[in-house]
Amino acid sequence: MADDRVLIFDTTLRDGEQSPGASMNLSEKLQVAHALAELGVDVIEAGFPIASPGDFESVQAIAREVHGPIICGLARCNSDDIDRAAMALVDAPRPRIHVFLATSAIHREFKLKMAKEEIIRRAVEGVTRAKGYCDDVEFSPEDAARTELDFLAEVVERAIEAGATTLNIPDTVGYAVPNQYAGAIAYLKKHVRGIEKIVLSVHCHDDLGMAVANSLAAVLEGARQIECTINGLGERAGNCALEEVVMALVTRADYFGLKTGINTRKLYPTSRLVSHVTGIMVQRNKAIVGQNAFSHEAGIHQDGMLKNSSTYEIMNPEDVGISRTELVLGKHSGRAALRQRVVDLGYHLNDEQLQRVFEGFKTLADRKKVIYDADIEALAETQIHSGPNLWTLEAVTCNAGSATIPSAVVALWNQDGSIRREAALGDGPVDAVFKAIEHLTGIELTLTDYRIRSVSVGEDAQGEASVEVEYNGKNFSARAVSTDIIEASALAFLQVINRIAMREKYQIDRVLPTQVEEGNEVAMGS
Ligand code: KIV
Ligand code: ZN
Repeated sequence: MADDRVLIFDTTLRDGEQSPGASMNLSEKLQVAHALAELGVDVIEAGFPIASPGDFESVQAIAREVHGPIICGLARCNSDDIDRAAMALVDAPRPRIHVFLATSAIHREFKLKMAKEEIIRRAVEGVTRAKGYCDDVEFSPEDAARTELDFLAEVVERAIEAGATTLNIPDTVGYAVPNQYAGAIAYLKKHVRGIEKIVLSVHCHDDLGMAVANSLAAVLEGARQIECTINGLGERAGNCALEEVVMALVTRADYFGLKTGINTRKLYPTSRLVSHVTGIMVQRNKAIVGQNAFSHEAGIHQDGMLKNSSTYEIMNPEDVGISRTELVLGKHSGRAALRQRVVDLGYHLNDEQLQRVFEGFKTLADRKKVIYDADIEALAETQIHSGPNLWTLEAVTCNAGSATIPSAVVALWNQDGSIRREAALGDGPVDAVFKAIEHLTGIELTLTDYRIRSVSVGEDAQGEASVEVEYNGKNFSARAVSTDIIEASALAFLQVINRIAMREKYQIDRVLPTQVEEGNEVAMGS
């Protein structure tokens, strides 16, 4: 590999999915994995196969179907985890097993209750076992950024001797600052024997908002793999955002002198896709992919932009896949024009899906005068099939006003072919709709967030509803779009119910990688 090439390791489907409310089903994960392959990531961390049968199945399916990137499965340093990861990856043309074990004093003392020698022994055994299954083995000393440097160097050296080909240095709790983190990378480069043979990787969390800065500081010291997620998704404050770190390397190539294999024009569509399938909205002012990232409000800026866009823009929106064309199609636009627009916006739909988008487009064109890119995106996203649904909305009506008790009637199709209707009263029309859906499906949720925003501009713009709920201590979220905000709300709420219902049907509760208790670890060789 050329010395100026930085590998992009995407962990949206593993660390990103640990974000509260971000769980995805198999078909959604496959969609995202295909999009990541098209985006040009080098490695897809597809999941943590021991966590649940659902996680195993999705890693296996991605390993079978998604070609191009290395497909990676996570495992703790114990034989059950590693065997399960190897089994899930058996059909991958380019498999990688990623084993991890915490090394910091805090984790050694309070979580693992293991001495340093025990940690080294376990790490070596883990890498050796993974190596028995595939050549490509990554080792992560969890909480490396808070580990004593001399001990970290010792563990890393022993992992390399055992056959690790990538050494990842996680800042698990987002505690590092750029100079210090880069210093740790420089220390390891200087003190670890054999480090020149392996790829040094970085994995930064964003608790102090420095995940991207820390990752960039580390590549300046020779790290050549960055672990990151689309939209910076991930536990707590999330992980290093892929789109930000990549565009920093591209835009400031003069400074970094480094390259990635990312097709930056796919960044925005991939961000939209991940936001759609997880139901987690991207904040408006988010760098690179936020709604405001390329909009100019101040008159002086607008004037400068008209004279020359480089006065106030350091990147072209087109370079990240955002089109400057706003007004696109109208009632009389044909199928070919729509198809071209869908492709230009970065969606890859088959003929059947395109036909459904076309039908949706015609219905929408009857309801609103002009159709914007955002409308086409919303239509295309509905075709990113979110797997089998137990419930489908047939109709929703509601009655509300200042002098009446809000009420709603909802009709739902069940997967078994029956249609069911229910009426409910509520504090407002949306509350009444949600109550009727809860009665019909038998699933009661705690609504933790509910928002409506307009997808494009104008009085007839479509409304996007996003809901976040808690169910049995877990968070779920979903979004849906319609010209009618009550319908959008019902669709989003139903999507969350479908996620929960399908999850209960097919999945057992999962263990997260960080949930390792004393005595809970399966010993090597067992
Ligand atoms: O943050 C972390 O330490 C991780 C490891 C499993 C690599 O996600
Ligand atoms: Zn992590």
